[in-house]
Amino acid sequence: MKNKSFQKHEVAEYERKRYRGLDQRLVHKRERKILESIFKEIQGDSLQVLDIPCGYGRFSQLCLKHGFSLVNSDISFHMVQRAVNRKRFNMEASVCGFVCDAKQGIPVKTEIIPVVLSMRFFHHLHEADDRLFILKEFYRVSLKWVVLSYYKSHALHRLQRKLRKAVKKAKTRIKMISRKEFHREITESGFEVVKEYSLFPGLHAQHIVLLRKVKSESETRL
Ligand SMILES: C[S@@+](CC[C@H](N)C(=O)[O-])C[C@H]1O[C@@H](n2cnc3c(N)ncnc32)[C@H](O)[C@@H]1O
Repeated sequence: MKNKSFQKHEVAEYERKRYRGLDQRLVHKRERKILESIFKEIQGDSLQVLDIPCGYGRFSQLCLKHGFSLVNSDISFHMVQRAVNRKRFNMEASVCGFVCDAKQGIPVKTEIIPVVLSMRFFHHLHEADDRLFILKEFYRVSLKWVVLSYYKSHALHRLQRKLRKAVKKAKTRIKMISRKEFHREITESGFEVVKEYSLFPGLHAQHIVLLRKVKSESETRL
């Protein structure tokens, strides 16, 4: 993930190229499928999604299709601008957005967002403190649900990555965490895992989880 914010021309190029290859198209398709089944499950009592970080709005149509209104947020102004651009939605869309560095906190009120969606962000957070801070922010702002993707480490993946690194001598940028570590961080931040989906079991380390707040903020304060 880029360290500095995406500029306007980079957003257009990223959107054009990022999910163009066959493997990436498959990943995108599978992510959408998993999100579809999660949205079907929760849409009854949820009206709004905060997509953070939204990138160029890869899941905007999907959220709107399921009847959610949408708040898009990203550290890049140009990503948010693209994600909230109404011209791309062929429907009466309720979409707005704001720019923020999620690592510094999310500038919205406590317990105001029914569903927080955070795809392909967690695996860029290499420090446990950053992950916990973000999870606690998600806990604070959400009313009930968080949908999040992460990369689960597995012996086979660890071996694959070692080999790839040895061949390409490339520095790995993805943070994989063990199931135990992930569940510890989830519990510590006040959530429980309701459902967990593997992108491609045994082949791909990415997992998508549906998290539910165990207690509300107000209950925690009592
Ligand atoms: C890998 S993309 C994922 C975007 C989208 N969720 C998706 O799956 O297509 C990562 C996004 O995170 C944004 N980003 C990076 N650091 C961030 C931060 N600290 N706070 C908010 N957004 C951040 C980047 O600008 C980029 O748009």
